[in-house]
Amino acid sequence: MAITEEFKQELKARTDIADVISSYVQLKKAGRNLVGLCPFHNEKSPSFSVSRENGFFYCFGCGAGGDAITFIRKIENLDYIDAVKLLADRAGLTIPEDTARDGMGHLRTRIYEANREAARFYHRQLYAPGGKQALEYLRGRALTEKTIIHFGLGYSPGDRFELVNYLRSKGFSNNELIQANLANQSQRGYPFDRFSDRVMFPIMDLRGNVIGFGGRIMSDIKPKYLNTSDTPVFNKSRNLFALQFAKNKANGQLILVEGYMDVIALHQAGFENAVATLGTSLTQDQAMIIKRYCDEVVICYDADAAGQKATQRAIGILRPTGIKIKVLTVPNGKDPDEFIRSYGEQGSARFRMLLEKTGNDTEYRLGQLRAQYNVEIPEQKIDFANKAAQLIEGLDNPVEQDVYISRLSRELEIEKTAFKRLVEKNSRRRLREYQKDEQRQVQAEMNGLNDRLNKEKHFNLRAANAEEAILSLMVSHPDAASVIAARLSPELFVTGFHRRIYEVLKKRVENGLEITAADLSGDFSEDEMARISRMLIQHPRELQPQDAAMEYISVLEEEKHRLTPQQAAQADNDTIMEQLRRMKEKKK
Ligand code: UTP
Ligand code: MN
Repeated sequence: MAITEEFKQELKARTDIADVISSYVQLKKAGRNLVGLCPFHNEKSPSFSVSRENGFFYCFGCGAGGDAITFIRKIENLDYIDAVKLLADRAGLTIPEDTARDGMGHLRTRIYEANREAARFYHRQLYAPGGKQALEYLRGRALTEKTIIHFGLGYSPGDRFELVNYLRSKGFSNNELIQANLANQSQRGYPFDRFSDRVMFPIMDLRGNVIGFGGRIMSDIKPKYLNTSDTPVFNKSRNLFALQFAKNKANGQLILVEGYMDVIALHQAGFENAVATLGTSLTQDQAMIIKRYCDEVVICYDADAAGQKATQRAIGILRPTGIKIKVLTVPNGKDPDEFIRSYGEQGSARFRMLLEKTGNDTEYRLGQLRAQYNVEIPEQKIDFANKAAQLIEGLDNPVEQDVYISRLSRELEIEKTAFKRLVEKNSRRRLREYQKDEQRQVQAEMNGLNDRLNKEKHFNLRAANAEEAILSLMVSHPDAASVIAARLSPELFVTGFHRRIYEVLKKRVENGLEITAADLSGDFSEDEMARISRMLIQHPRELQPQDAAMEYISVLEEEKHRLTPQQAAQADNDTIMEQLRRMKEKKK
């Protein structure tokens, strides 16, 4: 790792993890730690803990964890070097220049640069003679000059080598162009332009870097849109088109649409809080990002069957985030762009009217459901009532449930109490299943059974727990760390996973390096970092760390004389076989 130890120490000293995380998550004090709602998965009660003294976070719900660098990597979708850079900026430190150009960080920087140059190139082509048709096309779609410039729209020439030649002349290598997915590689190994004869839509991240492109063909040839595939700087499931603009205009609300053109038409009409997914259906990652910037989202997908299906899916993904959801259906089977354009000057006002009378997701889903039944016919009315009761049961706000129970029983002319019983019947069953599930999970967790990282743990829980305590001691108590490193041989570790972590820590101690908090990311994978954080957050600081260390070491010494995991596994198998045999015998 090219970042110097000195720099890491300095960064660590100046970084308060609670401070860093507070910019993303609301944290409350709970004992020695801080807790909040996990930004990496959907939850209603906080299982996300931050230990300020140790510099770690861990989520007991989804298992995400690590130090400040890990946190920034995950939440900002950055690689190690870029995350260090961001934290350094925050702390007012400057990262040494040669480090910034190191390894993957360097390739990423080059891809950003190539993308920026490409975006400029495409934009200029729009005003070159060859781009005439493309410019006409955009004007034909009612885009103003201002909009074209604001979004940096462009044109990729039909000749398959123009961009490649241009960027080569600017010093970019073939490999860089291919890694950026600006070029494809021919069978003979030559790069050629990925986009040709298309209208270009640059896609930017929140910092305004161009990370990819969408390109629309101007004829009926398929595919209609070609997009940048995932690259080291672009992940289509973790970005949203135009979020860099929309986040500043959100004012608590984002409008979620399907297409690039819908976003652009809406922004031009004054709805600058519109964003779109990038040619895929909404992902959980995107839902969590949306939640970061607003507390209400208006889903405004195409009015066709596919759009309605996507709407139901998006509701399912957004609901658990706790964000308020509204659903706007554009009339007459149009998409938002067509709708606005069809009203010309009035487009903006018309869309605002739609927005104002938009209902929430529950109303939308009940409406969609109801459209499938003719409630004048008693059997169908009963079917609908049953399905509606299930839907209402799934809402977790009792007041909301009551509102819809009242409304539907009135509309269907059913006794409210009867309808309510229908809802409750469902919910008791669900609660029982849920509780059983939860119990099973806790039990398995206690026994180390579903520990994916450390599969050996459940063979010898006592030893594995002592190992965890030792590792946690080492990270939080430097003086205990040197005692442990001097006395404890890695061979005494029962589980390979912990042994591997121990070896890294021991080497650091022996080399006179600190092993606290913020400087571990470079040595461990994301999963390992998460586990280390969990140990730290679970094991309280010891008052007598050295004594504690000796105790845990003696546990390992005792356990070493017992079975190895392999032997234990065999023994386990034998017991199971034995039990099976006995059961068979009983049957006889
Ligand atoms: P649509 O087919 O609804 O197109 O795709 P649109 O947005 O209305 O486009 P125009 O108005 O005909 O120009 C919606 C979105 O799905 C993705 C794009 O992001 C598009 O904006 N898509 C669609 C693709 O990625 N590839 C395709 O071939 C088609
Ligand atoms: Mn369209």
